[in-house]
Amino acid sequence: MTPRILVIDADTRVRQDLSAVLSAEDCELQSAPNGAEAIELLHAGTYDVILLDLMLPDMSGVQVLGLVKEKAPWVPVVILTSYRETDTAVLAMKLNAFDYVNKPVQMDRVLRVVRKALADSQRRREEMADADRPVPGGDPGVVPSRSPVLRDIYTIVDKISRGNSSTVLIQGESGVGKDVLANLIHRSSARRDGPFLEINCAGLSEHLLESELFGHEKGAFTDAVTRKMGLLELGHAGTVFLDEIGEMSLAVQVKLLRVLEKMVFRRVGGTQDIQIDVRIIAATNRDLAEQVRRRDFREDLYYRLKVVQLMLPPLRSRPEDVIPLAEYFMGLFNERFGKQFQEISPEAKEALLEYHWPGNIRELKNAMERTVLLEEGQILQRAHLVLAGKEQFSESLPATVGSLLDKPFPADGVDMEGLVRELETKLLRKALSASGGNQSQAARLLGLNRDKLRYRMRQYGIDSERNEA
Ligand SMILES: Nc1ncnc2c1ncn2[C@@H]1O[C@H](COP(=O)(O)OP(=O)(O)O)[C@@H](O)[C@H]1O
Ligand SMILES: [Mg+2]
Repeated sequence: MTPRILVIDADTRVRQDLSAVLSAEDCELQSAPNGAEAIELLHAGTYDVILLDLMLPDMSGVQVLGLVKEKAPWVPVVILTSYRETDTAVLAMKLNAFDYVNKPVQMDRVLRVVRKALADSQRRREEMADADRPVPGGDPGVVPSRSPVLRDIYTIVDKISRGNSSTVLIQGESGVGKDVLANLIHRSSARRDGPFLEINCAGLSEHLLESELFGHEKGAFTDAVTRKMGLLELGHAGTVFLDEIGEMSLAVQVKLLRVLEKMVFRRVGGTQDIQIDVRIIAATNRDLAEQVRRRDFREDLYYRLKVVQLMLPPLRSRPEDVIPLAEYFMGLFNERFGKQFQEISPEAKEALLEYHWPGNIRELKNAMERTVLLEEGQILQRAHLVLAGKEQFSESLPATVGSLLDKPFPADGVDMEGLVRELETKLLRKALSASGGNQSQAARLLGLNRDKLRYRMRQYGIDSERNEA
């Protein structure tokens, strides 16, 4: 990785000289003549070392230093100062600057300090990678994985967060965290302040997908009464996430290929090329290579997409993540449902680890939600857990619903109303029994108001007299 250095100095000569010397050192160099531009650059990118003159035209260098220390405390800042051993330099040291260099700048001294700072920056980066953080910046709501495979993925995410446009292909079963990862890539990249737009290629007809992606001109087709901007255009300077790309028709694939090759496209019915700057992240739970062999997916597009390829392993092959995730979700739903679960019993942990999680993290999350909602106590017990194929509070039903959603649709169809009726009846009974017959409490457990609860009880003929609150 080429080290990135930022020089903040009002003096053009100094910026040019430093630039010449540091480029020869194989560093990528950016510079800013004042505080405002420096701050913009700091928000847009990450640096390994910052060289900062304390005398800036628009604000004090100490302010800029404070900002760097707040935003990226691990980045070494070298102060450039015109006064020998002045109070400013002392202050800079107090503010935790890495070192300082007197002006007029002596290049060999700068080089020495920068090399030292780079080594320091590198060391800190490694320390951070070892600590329990997925990518610099961390991310609320995302449990960092302990699996070595995911660690490697986080390292790649960290790398691609600097180069800001390489296309990424995320592959993995449903529920492994593809959306979460796509989000993480966006938020750890320099595009984080730009939009993150997501579209599911499976849910839309070819025609609709095309107009969602590329937009259309007024009159392009019957319904096109106004001009509409597509996601690619709206996503300018940001990230566009194409979920379930394996479902995209060949015709749309051709157009997408052009976008990836040239970063230009036309609105549907348009005659003008529109230039854009977006990062494309695509995801699929299909085997794209296999689709290429079957000619359902264009080979050229496949190679374009997989510039960076991330394979998220299923949950069953990373057992080290099951308990941390389960505990995180327990806490999450405790808060949401006002419950007090403190820990997971050893037997329950064992059951969680034994289970094969066909629906991956999504299934684990749903299982924890259901358990925390419907059960009481401080210790989450084995008996509280509803895992498909194991003992369940409602016989086969959740398993039926779960497997229905995970598998291709049964050829002979399903009785949807029957299934919903059965599920609702069982949830109502379960909630009423958990609340000792208290209807207000049962309603709260189900996220209903009392009128709705009563209406449903009547509808399903559930006895209510004895249960008046
Ligand atoms: N590392 C994680 N920490 C916390 N929740 C996660 C994590 N990974 C996935 N999830 C949750 O699991 C569910 C499935 O994740 P998602 O990214 O939608 O999977 P996919 O897109 O692969 O089907 C989501 O509710 C998501 O919030
Ligand atoms: Mg998804």
